[in-house]
Amino acid sequence: MTCRVSAVLAKSFSFKHQSTHVVRRTSKVTEMKPFILSHPLVRPLYGFLRECNESPLEKEILDCGAGGNYPPLALFREQGYRVVGIDSTLEQIQLAREFCRETNLNVPIMLGDIRNIPFRDESMNFVYSVNTVCHLSKKDTATAVQEIRRVLKNEGLCFVNFVSVDDCWFGRGKEVSPGEFLQEEEWYSGITKEGHICSYYEDTEPDAYFEAFEVIRKEKRITELVIEKNHPEGGGWQMADICYTAKKV
Ligand SMILES: C[S@@+](CC[C@H](N)C(=O)[O-])C[C@H]1O[C@@H](n2cnc3c(N)ncnc32)[C@H](O)[C@@H]1O
Repeated sequence: MTCRVSAVLAKSFSFKHQSTHVVRRTSKVTEMKPFILSHPLVRPLYGFLRECNESPLEKEILDCGAGGNYPPLALFREQGYRVVGIDSTLEQIQLAREFCRETNLNVPIMLGDIRNIPFRDESMNFVYSVNTVCHLSKKDTATAVQEIRRVLKNEGLCFVNFVSVDDCWFGRGKEVSPGEFLQEEEWYSGITKEGHICSYYEDTEPDAYFEAFEVIRKEKRITELVIEKNHPEGGGWQMADICYTAKKV
């Protein structure tokens, strides 16, 4: 397994602006169109979008855990991708549909479980799951990553992010297994108050999920966020996640 590790320390106090994103590289500067989505929780995907754009594979992509107010697939749709999403919560799918109606984007999202992805083997060029496997146990996350690998074509790329033990939500609730907490806070619509699993990872822990892949980028991001006022955290949040882009080989 090869990997390049980088750490990002970002302070992010506003997400309403629409800027032109410029990717600086050693030999050239690539300009991308302003993104329709600049919500901070979607930012981990900007690098993946660039990696997909640079891949020779056709632009088709699956999002697992695709629902919510800011459906990340909108980013890919507006860049010309054929997109499809699955999500296990009807309410979250409904929220995404409202966003798509308002923005006039065609982003199909169907009911489906990342632990049993309803697509054929080797049917997708690109697959990602952002801000989602944190809501699965570590055992189920291993199944989810295997499922992502199953539906990816050879040379296809995937992106998955994991919540780090450095996130400010680490340690809340009852620890039911190492790094797995039963938390009661409502993370997204559809979650009941009975509690649900949130999984947190040491820096190298998720590497094991990607042993059958070639890891082409690994990035740990620590971001100070000021987010929606009605978020259970009341606005402030140190978000820490560990992001992987990996290729099926
Ligand atoms: C925190 S939200 C993130 C939504 C979106 N990915 C984003 O970044 O804005 C987590 C999403 O994962 C979905 N989800 C949770 N468990 C899932 C599962 N087993 N299979 C598919 N989706 C799941 C939830 O319904 C919810 O929409």
